[in-house]
Amino acid sequence: MIEHVFGGSWTEDKLRRLHEYLIAYRNIFTSNPRARYFKTWYVDAFAGTGSRSTPKSASLQLDYGDGYLVDDDTSNFLDGSAKIALGLPSPFDHYLFIEESRKRAETLQESVLADFPTLAERVQIEIADANLALCEWCSERDWSKERAVVFLDPYGMQVEWKTITTLAATKGIDLWYLFPIATRVLTRDGDMDKQWAKRLDVLFGTPDWRSRFYSTRKAETLFGPVENVERDATEQNIQNFIEERLDTCFVAVARSRILRNSKSSPLFALCFAASNEKGAKPALKIAQYILES
Ligand SMILES: C[S@@+](CC[C@H](N)C(=O)[O-])C[C@H]1O[C@@H](n2cnc3c(N)ncnc32)[C@H](O)[C@@H]1O
Repeated sequence: MIEHVFGGSWTEDKLRRLHEYLIAYRNIFTSNPRARYFKTWYVDAFAGTGSRSTPKSASLQLDYGDGYLVDDDTSNFLDGSAKIALGLPSPFDHYLFIEESRKRAETLQESVLADFPTLAERVQIEIADANLALCEWCSERDWSKERAVVFLDPYGMQVEWKTITTLAATKGIDLWYLFPIATRVLTRDGDMDKQWAKRLDVLFGTPDWRSRFYSTRKAETLFGPVENVERDATEQNIQNFIEERLDTCFVAVARSRILRNSKSSPLFALCFAASNEKGAKPALKIAQYILES
């Protein structure tokens, strides 16, 4: 068994809201006779170990690459998203947990067997890249009979836009997406490493972030005209942009919630989007209430 250290008070916040939504979602699928027809999935594409140890110090550093959020002395063991979803009063019919770290996936497997033995048969754990595994899983489903909540909880910019459009195209998925507010990556003068720029293209699924977050102004100086690059990468602008992007492929998109570290710096936008024409309206109402409360 390995320990997984990440997050801070904003992680509690995120997981509490996810928990509330999952309870409400399962309520709909157990109480509404028409909804009962569907088999429901909970999919956690960055599943971790099922538990998390909280750091003693709240000095969080967000790593937009593939690294870790924090590393400090640890104190508590708390339930992570996977265990929260397994511990619901009315569990889902199926669970898919995707985790690229073999050790974390094995710890999660042990935890499922030890803590949720009666649900073990409903659980699939895949050691894989979230983007690849999700797209494959979407293509294997019968969306006339199945519905899902997908939770994307990456450390940083790991989710590819084509994964988001694949999820939306199923018309059967409600998505919770922890989107990185990458203000640090968006450099002041727009001059950035080509690899970072490429990652932003893949993250947003468009090169338009360049014109959205940067503009060029010409100014006359004693030495002639000079071009100045101005950055408009405020948290609100990034938040608005990702919501607009989600709106291009989902039926309904909630106003997201900004999650901050102890120094009040924005880390992520907790986004919600619904892809089912009929279910989107009630889903959005519930999610928006949860995001605002
Ligand atoms: C923030 S943690 C997830 C925490 C989890 N949702 C919880 O509440 O316990 C992110 C996890 O994603 C995994 N990960 C990172 N990149 C991945 C990828 N491309 N595909 C699948 N898992 C990935 C990491 O190993 C890590 O366990």
